Amino acid sequence: MIVLLHKVFLMTKTSLKPYNTFGINASCDRLFSFSSVDELSERLNEIDRQTPFLILGGGSNVLFTEDFHGTILRNAIKGIVVVQEKENTVIVEAGGGMVWHEFVHWTIQNDFGGIENLSLIPGSVGAAPMQNIGAYGVEIKDVFHSLDAYEIETGKIRTFDLPSCQFGYRESVFKRVLRNQFVIVKVRFELQKSGHHRLNTSYGMINEELTKKGIENPTIKDVSDAVIAIRQSKLPDPKEIGNSGSFFKNPILPNSQIEKLKSEFPDIPVYPVDENHSKTAAGWLIEQDGWKGYREGDFGVHQRQALVLVNYGQASGKEIYDLSERIIASIKDKFGIELEREVNIY
Ligand code: EPU
Repeated sequence: MIVLLHKVFLMTKTSLKPYNTFGINASCDRLFSFSSVDELSERLNEIDRQTPFLILGGGSNVLFTEDFHGTILRNAIKGIVVVQEKENTVIVEAGGGMVWHEFVHWTIQNDFGGIENLSLIPGSVGAAPMQNIGAYGVEIKDVFHSLDAYEIETGKIRTFDLPSCQFGYRESVFKRVLRNQFVIVKVRFELQKSGHHRLNTSYGMINEELTKKGIENPTIKDVSDAVIAIRQSKLPDPKEIGNSGSFFKNPILPNSQIEKLKSEFPDIPVYPVDENHSKTAAGWLIEQDGWKGYREGDFGVHQRQALVLVNYGQASGKEIYDLSERIIASIKDKFGIELEREVNIY
């Protein structure tokens, strides 16, 4: 029996196509899933720590440009528990291997507010803090309480509170300094009970979408439904067209540079960040530069959202990477802005 289970979880030379939303057909030497910390620990003892390994969640923020010569560990730790309830708020703990939207869906069914604007983001709960996922004016850091992470080197569980995660725009300590050193096993969020939650409908098209439906006093679910409708209208479904959401980050620039750009390109979108910096929209820059809808073979730039690179079927990761290089060079040439990738490249 033990041998049998072993075979189910520990595979050799595996195609990664089902495990990355880009649908890239690279392979890895070995892949295994773990659904508890004990299992993770056991599996880690089986592999040679000197060979490369990678911890994968939903595979929604990676681009494999070549075969991965090492072991891939897939987090399958599930479960949701309300760990604390106060008059107006709850602290909810979710397993790192849960599908992110399934967790969002659960919070909405329970009428807890805070992550409805983050509906339908592909990926897992454990991957969400890695890059401080965000959409429609809300980021994970706004509702984050703490997380438990397994330290690969020592086998110990360490708890990270908000400051120790060092969240920034699509950034955290796990993406940089502690990259590949920890496996996020549980994440806790502080959510508001309905009636005590202020909905954030000002960003993007949420208000327009609610008006279109004739909704004047939206509920948490109404906002989630609006976000789902907007996302579905703009962003390709990875089940149909391979992609990993925004491929690039929106550039944050000094205001002096923004002013110069505005004089040359009066329509450039500008969002204030702090006193001295503003963000502009990479999707706008890429569209203005003529790349929106570009297609060559099976790779290209999405037709409705220029920030999303796509795999129409058989594209290789290298082709998509090379396209991103061409886009970066072209944007640098036209606007003098160096785009940075949001997606992790392997
Ligand atoms: N725009 C264009 N052309 C395009 C795309 C966008 O002109 O092809 C313009 C829009 O008209 C708008 C501005 O760019 O003026 C911003 O566009 P949008 O609201 O669609 O959002 P985004 O900046 O392109 C960011 C996040 C998304 C998130 C949305 C909504 C990043 C890198 N991306 O995209 O996150 O869903 O805002 O909040 O910050 C992701 O990270 O994978 C992701 C999808």
